[in-house]
Amino acid sequence: MPERNRSAFAQHKLVPRYLRDVTKRDQSVVLFGRRYASPIGISPTGLAGLFRPDADAMLAHAAREANVPFLLSSAANGALEEVAPLAPENVWFQMYCTSDEAINADLVQRARKAGVRVLVVSVDVPVNSNRERNRRNGFSRPFRMTPGVVLEALGHPAWVIRYLRTGGIPMMRNWKPYAPANASAAQVADMYGTLTPAPMVNWDHLRRIRAARAGPLVIKGLMHPEDAREAVALGADGLVVSNHGGRQLDASPSSLEVLPAIRDAVGKDLELILDSGVRRGSDVVVARCLGAQSAIFGRPTLFGVAVAGRPARHTCCRSSARRSTW
Ligand SMILES: Cc1cc2nc3c(=O)[nH]c(=O)nc-3n(C[C@H](O)[C@H](O)[C@H](O)COP(=O)(O)O)c2cc1C
Repeated sequence: MPERNRSAFAQHKLVPRYLRDVTKRDQSVVLFGRRYASPIGISPTGLAGLFRPDADAMLAHAAREANVPFLLSSAANGALEEVAPLAPENVWFQMYCTSDEAINADLVQRARKAGVRVLVVSVDVPVNSNRERNRRNGFSRPFRMTPGVVLEALGHPAWVIRYLRTGGIPMMRNWKPYAPANASAAQVADMYGTLTPAPMVNWDHLRRIRAARAGPLVIKGLMHPEDAREAVALGADGLVVSNHGGRQLDASPSSLEVLPAIRDAVGKDLELILDSGVRRGSDVVVARCLGAQSAIFGRPTLFGVAVAGRPARHTCCRSSARRSTW
């Protein structure tokens, strides 16, 4: 539940310590051998291009400008080969294993060829979950034109015009190479639906990816300390401790709740990234206190890019940071 992810943070209070010289402040963090400006990053969100064309590219640019990681989803609309070069130091690639081993191996190689620094494999969608909200709001394939959808469309004419102008449902471009030539966006999406979720995926699949991948390998979505230990044994370089933003299992604890047990299980050296419910700088501090190196978030940046895209001219946050507090 997304609410549980938020309320978990509210359980923790930060007791400040004063009378330290804080003239020089540095919140940069080293992850997998590279220094980023802040211990935050952008979680992978598939189909972002449905909300705004080129959303993936916009997020990549924003990540480069802020010097934080952006985890490009394999279910994105932007192709790995197009988005990664926009921010080669910042774009990581997130993949789901499919039911086709040759495609899994190919995705790993494509990430390498595109110069991706960090490969993230999400493991927390073995089957499609029962997303009741999507049942209610009609977000499904094949698309159904319901009265609710018509009402929404009438309320957002600019979005509808842009959607129609850019060709309707955007292509899941990472999957186009595996579809017949000239396949439409809908056909590529259907093919993706036959390949994922892949309920047979197990630790052997991850071992094969580890063997094929020389660079950093991160597993996203583990919540149990025993699974985290298994990931260490397999040779993973890091974990994204995540309950998928509360979208997979309604009875799941928040990822923040399980973080200390996972840190205990993996020891002090494995890099841990906390995801799910992170909304504020103080959340990031709490996550770090409980054992994570950094924290990433999905909806905030997705909502931001959906609503406002990428501003032509960036207003810098520095001026507000300099404002005095009385
Ligand atoms: C619309 C949407 C699409 C998502 N798509 C993916 C995805 O393709 N791959 C993945 O690993 N996680 C995906 N996630 C989960 C996010 O990566 C992340 O775990 C989650 O959003 C974190 O919770 P937060 O939104 O509360 O920050 C998606 C989440 C949302 C909201």
